[in-house]
Amino acid sequence: MSPAVAFVVAIATSDVSSIFAPISAPADASLRAATLVLVITIGIFVVVGGLLAYGVVAFRRRPDDDGSEPPQVYGSDQIELAWTVIPIVIVVVLCLVTARTVYDVQAAVKPPGAVDVTVVGHQWWWEIRYPELGIVTANELHVPVSDPADPTPTYLALESADVVHSFWVPRLAGKTDLIPNRRNHMWIEPREPGLFRGQCAEYCGTQHAHMLLRVYVHPRTEFDRWVAAQRQPAVRDPGAAPGRRLFETTACVNCHTVQGTGAVGRFGPDLTHLMSRETLAAGAAPLTRDSLRAWIADPDHVKPGSRMPAMQLDAPELEQLVSYLVTLR
Ligand code: CUA
Repeated sequence: MSPAVAFVVAIATSDVSSIFAPISAPADASLRAATLVLVITIGIFVVVGGLLAYGVVAFRRRPDDDGSEPPQVYGSDQIELAWTVIPIVIVVVLCLVTARTVYDVQAAVKPPGAVDVTVVGHQWWWEIRYPELGIVTANELHVPVSDPADPTPTYLALESADVVHSFWVPRLAGKTDLIPNRRNHMWIEPREPGLFRGQCAEYCGTQHAHMLLRVYVHPRTEFDRWVAAQRQPAVRDPGAAPGRRLFETTACVNCHTVQGTGAVGRFGPDLTHLMSRETLAAGAAPLTRDSLRAWIADPDHVKPGSRMPAMQLDAPELEQLVSYLVTLR
């Protein structure tokens, strides 16, 4: 199989997120606008491409050509009007439809059952805060499924700690930028449970490509269970005491928070319930004991350019630290 064919097969058979399979109201609106744009532009392509192909075939050089020029047409008012007015009308229609779609999505009134989440973009991970629920997590957003009869959409306030990022989960909504010193807003209203993938959609530095997003949409009772678990204080396993002491006495605490310890850093992800997440380093690796060990030993190897330094621990220390972190369920 050639690399190109392998690439196409990989895309077609993967669960890559697509704007053509929306399951949330803002994504429905985007798809309607995108479909209209596609239909119009495909129409233009067919007309222009068809005329071009016709001209190339019908007026090709023939053996009995005498080499003279065909009649030259200058200053045809009809033709000039047609190629000026028709494109203007098409562009105006596309502008109006786009503006109405943007306005409709932004003007949606927040229902009382809405969940509020603040998402902060960092190089290169997502900080996710639920201000009303007192939960802080990273990279994996958990939301309830929304029933049209009793809507529980999730309203996102988007901020950035450093450069411009962009929040994009194609099946849930269009892109919205996270801009330093500014608060942007968007909302999602997933009507199906499941895992929906997304990605930072604005180039933000070396590891932009490893700034992945996972949105877990839960039935209401399951979401409530997740909330209750996240609100628990960090597990304090006596068996992991040496690792905890090591964690609390190295520079880890400057960047990470573990509720109930001296670690209150905000530069890196909150680790209070680290092991409740499925991935590590904003989706760069699945979260297992082995990947965690590899990550702490040399973050730059897993994610070149990562802002997390290697702590230069010796092997027994590394093992103690990992043994502590895996208790943080
Ligand atoms: Cu964050 Cu690209």
